[in-house]
Order: sequence, then structure tokens, then C-alpha cells
Amino acid sequence: MSSILVIHGSPRGERSHSRRLAEEFLQAWQGANPLGRLVRREVGRGSLPHVSEAFIAAAFYPQPEARPLSMQADLALSDELVGELLEHRRLVISAPMYNFSVPSGIKAWVDHIVRLGLTFNTLLDNGVAQYQPLVQGKKVLIVTSRGGGGFGPGGEHEALNHADRWLRTALGFIGIEDVTVVAAEGEESVPERFQQSCAEAQQHLQALARTF
Ligand SMILES: Cc1cc2nc3c(=O)[nH]c(=O)nc-3n(C[C@H](O)[C@H](O)[C@H](O)COP(=O)(O)O)c2cc1C
Repeated sequence: MSSILVIHGSPRGERSHSRRLAEEFLQAWQGANPLGRLVRREVGRGSLPHVSEAFIAAAFYPQPEARPLSMQADLALSDELVGELLEHRRLVISAPMYNFSVPSGIKAWVDHIVRLGLTFNTLLDNGVAQYQPLVQGKKVLIVTSRGGGGFGPGGEHEALNHADRWLRTALGFIGIEDVTVVAAEGEESVPERFQQSCAEAQQHLQALARTF
């Protein structure tokens, strides 16, 4: 059965544009896939802890197969998030731009799912670390909203975009290369401009929902 893992990253609920646009996409996808399953993981509303010293010690323990029970417990949430990621072929991530990057909940989620031995490996080649992605066959839709404009491909502020562009890098690091970004820009500009951008994003999302 087809399914989508949905990661919502805005701290806002009903007032969040990225969340609303993503939910509209999911509704359209559900219409085209009535038996499809949606699994939601909220990371934007303070529900996900940042990684801790205990997490780091456990995640990089030299003998993972002999991890003490206390360390296994420190990784329980991360294990669950990695399991969730690996279980689904499709992901929808709604993630606004915050200070040219993503909200901290999305960053925390990425820190939990980029896991040595589970989603990537390190190999030494002549003493130099080489990284090997371990995740295969996923496709991701990132739905984003930005207060300003020009952060998309070819835009005048593209180089300042460390939000969805960084997310693409982090996902690529673990092997997820099939990533589509749909953005609404200009929430802080005149309302007509933002409405126009939302309408274009909605149109794009409705078309994507038929093939995702
Ligand atoms: C803490 C914070 C930082 C923000 N930083 C940026 C930014 O760097 N660039 C930008 O274009 N908009 C920025 N914005 C505006 C948001 O991207 C915009 O309001 C967006 O619509 C929020 O997404 P949401 O509606 O899904 O919550 C920021 C908003 C907040 C609250």
C-alpha cells in the first residue's frame, strides 16, 4: 500500500502557510490514492528534543553491536525516527524559511535521522573519511513559505537560501536525491504578491499530487 511520511516544521498551526499548502497537496494525493496512508510526525511545535551529549556518545559508540542498554535508550527516539523514514518511500516536509535556514525542529529531526551505520557510513580511504549513503528509493517533496522573495533557483537571493537548499544537501548525504521544492514567497510583501505566489504553488502541487 502506498504511504507518505509527513513532517511538519512550522511552529505555527492553522496560520502556517507551508503547513496549509502541504495539507492541500496531501488532500489531493489522498483523492488520487484513496487507499494511501498518511503518517504524520510533528516536529515544528516543540515536540522534538535536540540531540544531546548522551545521544552523541551513543550514536558514535565504537562498537554499536555492543552498546550498553542505557545508550540504546538514549537512541530510542532517533531509532524510531529512522525507522519511520525507512518505512516510507515518499516524504512530504513542510518547512518555512527561518533566518535563511529552517526552523530548529526540522534541524533537530535531521540530526536524529542522519545516523552512522543506519542512514550513512564512514569509510577510511588512505586515512581520509569517505561517506557512503545508505538510504535508497525515496522521493521527497519540500513545501516551503518565505517572508521575502528571490530565494528560489536563479533568484537574486538564492545564495542566501540555507533552508530547502540545505535540506536537499542533508538528504542527499544519506542518499535521498529525488527532491522537489515548491515555495510560496513574499508573505511579508504586499498581500497580492503573496496570494499570487501561493496560487502558483497550489497549481504546481495539484499537478504533482497526480504523480507523486
Ligand atoms: C523567526 C523567523 C525568522 C524568519 N526568517 C526569515 C528569513 O530569513 N527569510 C524570509 O524570507 N522570511 C523569514 N521569515 C518569514 C517566514 O518565512 C514566513 O512568515 C513564512 O510564511 C513562515 O512559514 P509558515 O507560514 O509556514 O509558518 C521568518 C519568520 C520568523 C518567525
